[in-house]
Amino acid sequence: MALWAGRFSKEIDAGVNAFNSSIAFDARMYRQDIRGSIAHATMLGDCGIITKEDSLQIVAGLQEILSDIDSGKLEFDPNAEDIHMFVEAELTKRLGDVGKRLHTSRSRNDQVAVDLRLYLRDEIAEIRKLTKKLCCVLVKTAENHTETVLPGYTHLQRAQPVTFAHHMLAYVQMFLRDLGRLDDTTKRMNECPLGSGALAGTTYHIDRQQTAALLEFDAPMANSLDGVSDRDYCIELANTLSIIMMHLSRFSEEIILWCSWEFKFIELDDAFATGSSIMPQKKNPDITELIRGKTARVYGDLQTLLTMMKGLPLAYNKDMQEDKEAIFDAVDNVKLCLETFIPMLETMHVNKENMRAAAAKGFINATDCADYLVKKGMPFRDAYKISGTLVAQCIEKGLTLETLPLEEYQKMTPLFAEDVYEAISLETCVKGRVSEGGPSPKAVKKQLELVKAKLGMD
Ligand code: ARG
Repeated sequence: MALWAGRFSKEIDAGVNAFNSSIAFDARMYRQDIRGSIAHATMLGDCGIITKEDSLQIVAGLQEILSDIDSGKLEFDPNAEDIHMFVEAELTKRLGDVGKRLHTSRSRNDQVAVDLRLYLRDEIAEIRKLTKKLCCVLVKTAENHTETVLPGYTHLQRAQPVTFAHHMLAYVQMFLRDLGRLDDTTKRMNECPLGSGALAGTTYHIDRQQTAALLEFDAPMANSLDGVSDRDYCIELANTLSIIMMHLSRFSEEIILWCSWEFKFIELDDAFATGSSIMPQKKNPDITELIRGKTARVYGDLQTLLTMMKGLPLAYNKDMQEDKEAIFDAVDNVKLCLETFIPMLETMHVNKENMRAAAAKGFINATDCADYLVKKGMPFRDAYKISGTLVAQCIEKGLTLETLPLEEYQKMTPLFAEDVYEAISLETCVKGRVSEGGPSPKAVKKQLELVKAKLGMD
């Protein structure tokens, strides 16, 4: 018989029970559910709403259930409606009437809200750790490559020279913002809905400050209707996770390109690549492609949550049971992606020579050639035009700006002298980009210091 059987004259239809049940996916919150119940029972005892003895028995019973589930001695009943019903029914099985007192002045509506906040708070802490680890790995890679020159791209066309360190540190900045977003999400969600009851609070003189403190929330939620019907934190988290995935996906796309024969900027470790069932020569970057693919499903989870909530009247509606599979899927996949991406990055081999060779082609010093004339007094627009004309001549003659004879330069303007070659050499072009946040080794060292301080690295 269901716990709510009193009003009903029939057992629930088996198909409906299966349709309605969430235990298959909410059982993973059993620790949080039991923790919440322990806080609630403790408060009920302290406030004299149930006796101290009953409260102590309930707490002991819940702890026993927790260790029995942990050890595998107690298995979830797939016919239970949800994890909340399962734990309460099990407690009553063990304690009889005492167990039936646990749900005094509580509803599954505030219970599930508290469970989910506790669960996601822990998951965010995990994701935070992984994101921070990723930043540290990127910083270490950057430290080894402050002098490694590669072409920077716009429109995927070679544009201006940068260093590999600079490129890695751009990603560090993105992931640092993700850490900030994870912290913001945690901060806003860290209020306790327990005591909201079904929607309208309770007539018992409960102590919401106490349960909030026991569960390490900053405060009780201020409004009981909002307490049970708010899922903003799921949406905020799914949004934060979508942005993390977007960053991982852009990075993955670059790694996919860099692994190709056309680029050959990096090579993945054999343990982090896959072969083809038919083409013996293949070494495929499956991990990064899968991360790019999984980004789609995390975006989908965000859409699920937003759409699920858009038409819901206050307060709780059963639609909201759909929140869990979506947010769990997002959390699980982000963790999986980070856990795989980090060691792949740590073990990849960087082909400095190929990066440099690519930087030597594609006229990525054309801006520097114009800047040379600007430094000699010519307005930038005129210098730009001359540099462009010289590039066109080089393309026609099969030359580079480095190999074009000085006479050709001087035909354009007598401002050109022998020192132009020094001014447009790759080394000068990179070293000269000393502006704050720029790619020169000097500017990158400054960036490194700043991010290391933020990450607490020595
Ligand atoms: N399994 C439900 C959920 O995940 C728990 C809350 C049920 N509340 C209710 N009034 N039926 O949303």
